[in-house]
Amino acid sequence: MLLYLVLTALALTVWWIRKRYSYWSERGVPFIKPTFPTGNLGGMASREHISAIMERCYKQLKGSGPFGGIFFFINPVALALDLDFIKTVLVKDFQYFHDRSVYYNEKDDPLSAHLFAMEGPKWRNLRAKLTPTFTSGKMKMMFPTIISVADQFQELMVKEIKTGDEIEMKEILARFTTDVIGSCAFGLECNSLHSPEAEFRRMGRKIFQFGKFKLLKIVLAQQFRAIARALHVTTVDSDVSEFFMGAVKQTVEYREQNKIERNDFMNLLIELKNANTSEKEDGLSALSIEEAAAQAFVFFLAGFETSSTAMSYCLYELAQRPDLQDKAYEDVQAALKKHGSMSYEAIHDMNYIGQCINESLRKYPPASNLLRLVTQDYKVPNSNFILERGSTMIIPVYGLHHDPEFYPDPERYDPERFFPEQVARRNPFCFLPFGEGPRICIGMRFGLMQARVGLAYLLKDFRFTLSNRTPVPLKINPSSAVLTSEGGLWLHVEKR
Ligand code: HEM
Ligand SMILES: *[C@@H]1O[C@H](CO)[C@@H](O)[C@H](O)[C@H]1NC(C)=O
Ligand SMILES: *[C@@H]1O[C@H](CO)[C@@H](O)[C@H](O)[C@H]1NC(C)=O
Repeated sequence: MLLYLVLTALALTVWWIRKRYSYWSERGVPFIKPTFPTGNLGGMASREHISAIMERCYKQLKGSGPFGGIFFFINPVALALDLDFIKTVLVKDFQYFHDRSVYYNEKDDPLSAHLFAMEGPKWRNLRAKLTPTFTSGKMKMMFPTIISVADQFQELMVKEIKTGDEIEMKEILARFTTDVIGSCAFGLECNSLHSPEAEFRRMGRKIFQFGKFKLLKIVLAQQFRAIARALHVTTVDSDVSEFFMGAVKQTVEYREQNKIERNDFMNLLIELKNANTSEKEDGLSALSIEEAAAQAFVFFLAGFETSSTAMSYCLYELAQRPDLQDKAYEDVQAALKKHGSMSYEAIHDMNYIGQCINESLRKYPPASNLLRLVTQDYKVPNSNFILERGSTMIIPVYGLHHDPEFYPDPERYDPERFFPEQVARRNPFCFLPFGEGPRICIGMRFGLMQARVGLAYLLKDFRFTLSNRTPVPLKINPSSAVLTSEGGLWLHVEKR
């Protein structure tokens, strides 16, 4: 009897999984044959990074329609294939695609309920309130803070090359961006430049260096959100959570007691926390301390690793091309000569540095895919197909950035691709390192600015070449969230 029940259950499960896997074929959408249990994600995090898997799927399906069908485990996912359709999803018909379907759990894991994960009207209202923190006026006010961290960064570089001519740049750049974001988001001296084991740096390392098991947990929670919430699954480790919550609470208390106002992210979060709650007409009541902490957390999370990897890739490429590195050096020198010092204006005049950064973001987009959730049934333009509410859309940014149709000889690093005339000739939707539309990266200006400052300081005084510890081509760490290289990035450094 028991055996009979087990066999029936097994047969039903097999039938159900087969049915799931025929989702795209039943609807006449070109798709890639999945295998149980990972669908089309076989080898993810062990053999390959997800960027490579999505690039292969994109190449295989490209040309067959606005999107193709793939599977994440047993869930159908629509893979966007053409630039017009991508524009439609990200911008024109945004009202159908305003969420990301990232797993968060406000009750058990308050720090996970941040802007990147939030959904619907709650996201919209908070986004509108946070946007003014990132205007160019605010960037200008934060600029001196960034410069004072950059000065410490420079001192550290000088000290480091006294003890050896090879430096692991990835770690040192992560310490730089940790201190920048720490002082701008938390108003704290994180001191990770001075001491590599400073708490902020330790926590930052912990957030991003996780093994396959943690990655699998996150991916599964994302695919089965309701079940994960019911099981109280958390994605932020408890020590990380306690540390950040504590840091925010202390900062807020200190500023409120001493009536301190500063031009930083934390100041705005405190204002939102103390907002007059009877003005509730926009649906967003004042932020709780937990909600404010979650936003500070996401600024930290999204702000340091993305920018530091972008800078390290840029150095890695320039180390291989002394001619381009000299051009970048000349660019910094010319701006310094024109403006007299590393001012906000000087940094923004360094156009070639900007092009080098964008070409690095093209070749190595830190966020290698964009995600969107279909929030209402959506009829795809010029087709009979309906994308069903609750399904997921993925945009293969890495695949687009390496498509020879848009970027001839895509593995070649060439900042000239970002000369204004060349940019004008391309469809803007084949360059998406920060996403696009109303849900574009809120910190884009800040990220680009801190990358410019970091690179300008480095290129001004130092010359970088490959060391024999630098692998060419770089190997991507298959289980990292942000597209990052395996191991450190060792470069040979000498003073100019
Ligand atoms: C080079 C640096 C950076 C890169 C490549 C990057 C990339 C991205 C991407 C691709 C997205 C998703 C956009 C979309 O879905 O359309 C995003 C969202 C976001 N980023 Fe960034 N980012 C960077 C720096 C920063 C910085 C410095 C901050 C904060 C200080 C930040 C905060 C955020 C936040 C809060 C979101 C979620 C926005 C929302 O959902 O409304 N990012 N970022
Ligand atoms: C909050 O706003 C309401 C309506 O705008 C106003 O009547 C009330 O006095 C305000 N309360 C405080 C404490 O500012
Ligand atoms: C780099 O890319 C960003 C985002 O698309 C853009 O706003 C910026 O103008 C670009 N800079 C250069 C120098 O091409």
